[in-house]
Amino acid sequence: MATTEPTIPNMPALAADATVHVGSDTAREWWRDAVIYQVYPRSFADGDGDGIGDIPGITARLDHLRTLGIDAVWLSPFYRSPQKDAGYDVADYRDVDPLFGTLDDFDAMLAGAHERGMRVIVDLVPNHTSDQHVWFQQALAAAPGSAERARYIFRDGKGPGGDEPPNNWQSIFGGAAWTRVPDGQWYLHLFDSSQPDLDWNHTEVRAEFEDVLRFWLDRGVDGFRVDVAHGMVKADGLPDWHGQVSMVEGSSDEQPTDPGAPEDGSTGAGNQGPMFDQDGVHEIYRSWHQVLAAYDGDRCLVAEAWVEPLSRLARYVRPDEMHQAFNFSFLTTAWDAAALRRVIAASYQANDEVGAPTTWVLSNHDVVRHATRLGLPDPGTRPNGVFATDPQPDEELGLRRARAASLLMLGMPGSAYLYQGEELGLPEHTTLPNEVRQDPGHFRTDGAEAGRDGCRVPLPWEADAPGYGFGPTGATWLPQPDSYRRYAADAQYGVDGSTFELYRTALAARRAEGLGHGGLAWLDAWADSPDVVAFVNRDVAVVANLSSTPVALPGADVLLASGPLDEGALPADTTVWLRA
Ligand code: NOJ
Repeated sequence: MATTEPTIPNMPALAADATVHVGSDTAREWWRDAVIYQVYPRSFADGDGDGIGDIPGITARLDHLRTLGIDAVWLSPFYRSPQKDAGYDVADYRDVDPLFGTLDDFDAMLAGAHERGMRVIVDLVPNHTSDQHVWFQQALAAAPGSAERARYIFRDGKGPGGDEPPNNWQSIFGGAAWTRVPDGQWYLHLFDSSQPDLDWNHTEVRAEFEDVLRFWLDRGVDGFRVDVAHGMVKADGLPDWHGQVSMVEGSSDEQPTDPGAPEDGSTGAGNQGPMFDQDGVHEIYRSWHQVLAAYDGDRCLVAEAWVEPLSRLARYVRPDEMHQAFNFSFLTTAWDAAALRRVIAASYQANDEVGAPTTWVLSNHDVVRHATRLGLPDPGTRPNGVFATDPQPDEELGLRRARAASLLMLGMPGSAYLYQGEELGLPEHTTLPNEVRQDPGHFRTDGAEAGRDGCRVPLPWEADAPGYGFGPTGATWLPQPDSYRRYAADAQYGVDGSTFELYRTALAARRAEGLGHGGLAWLDAWADSPDVVAFVNRDVAVVANLSSTPVALPGADVLLASGPLDEGALPADTTVWLRA
């Protein structure tokens, strides 16, 4: 960590007149400024040695998270599931899959997190069930038009003999969004054929999920991340759609930041069409809001909604709906100062109107890790995974930019989500052999898309242990690249300048300075800069240099920097926090 105190006499003072967001001094709900860490259970830590992460593995590593200094953990699904989409195909919403442990293991993990002052959010997958869910099994066994089928979206086909799907919708994972059953009807699945969509017009579906919410709230969870929160209600009549469907939400081979990008911060990350962002979906969240409000402790709902523009996304976090919505427009913005300022300003504008915090995020289990994304030969693209045969990213450049991007993000007011491993600077596995891939998006595109396995590789905990300490046997469900040795957690603890120490120090300073509920005003000196994003939040000035040449810094104490400073200058792809 750099501790030099540069003084560049010719630089203007840290004046900031352009206020983008006004902070708050009153104590508010915990989630408004929380840093929340995503645990992807199958890849976090393995307790029983089968090579797949599990809940006891998480419990055993809770001290890593406490040391890091996060406020809460979000767990991706651990429910009973045939694991066709890594648990996002739920067969029983009220039980733990034996792969991950038991309900008792869950209770122990929850208690361990709470004892350490960390809250726990679980994943809710309401758009679809697994095809192994009892409801879908009953629907298959029942006749067309039956009550059992009415919980899902079964329709007769078109054309002679009903041989064509009811409409032209494509699955987000590739191929048709309809599968035919032996009696001739078709059912809708926006994702894999093993993930049939529920019909949210059905009162029984609504009642069931309110009960599922209460089941986990009663166990003590602090909130829910809601999967495909923008997809549950479809347009009446299921009309054809002729627009584009991304293989994975938000992936794109196109440059997202052409000069004509709209002022609303849109990057092309929003899903379009009659299956997404229908007005009717908000009624569901208004009723869930009431369910949560009946419990103590400010329980929260976070929307996974790939919706643009940001003003449209803000509708999910109106005062009587959900509490947070991932800011995927930020995640998908290229490494470009003007584009970042645009999306940051648009985010505060949209959310301030509804009184909700912004919810920053740079990585998750569906996108190429930002340490790799920012080092791609063409960092403006957002591929759905990277093949071994693709042009490979610049690992050093990607890591430098990732550290700078994270320090920029953590300096901003609002809540922020971290994806497991980013605190280690972990890159994507970009040379996975195709034969080990498991993402349905790889198979449903006949191998045209690499898919999301590269960001889901088991974490390295110990540099010198088999499987880098992922579990007791060295087994890992996906192979780890050799490079993971130098990213292992135990090689970074207490090491000055390591990515873990950068995150740990940043989270401590963010808390001490009250940055999460501060305000944001652009620094005058760089308000229109093509190279630098710079703002003041309370008593801290955050300056990020996105250009390829050093930038002179004003004289001020350095609190933290994402890389070494150079005699008072801020090197390329580096962020610094200065005492304002
Ligand atoms: C979004 C989840 O994050 C992703 O992993 C999953 O494949 C789809 N929703 C379908 O549940």
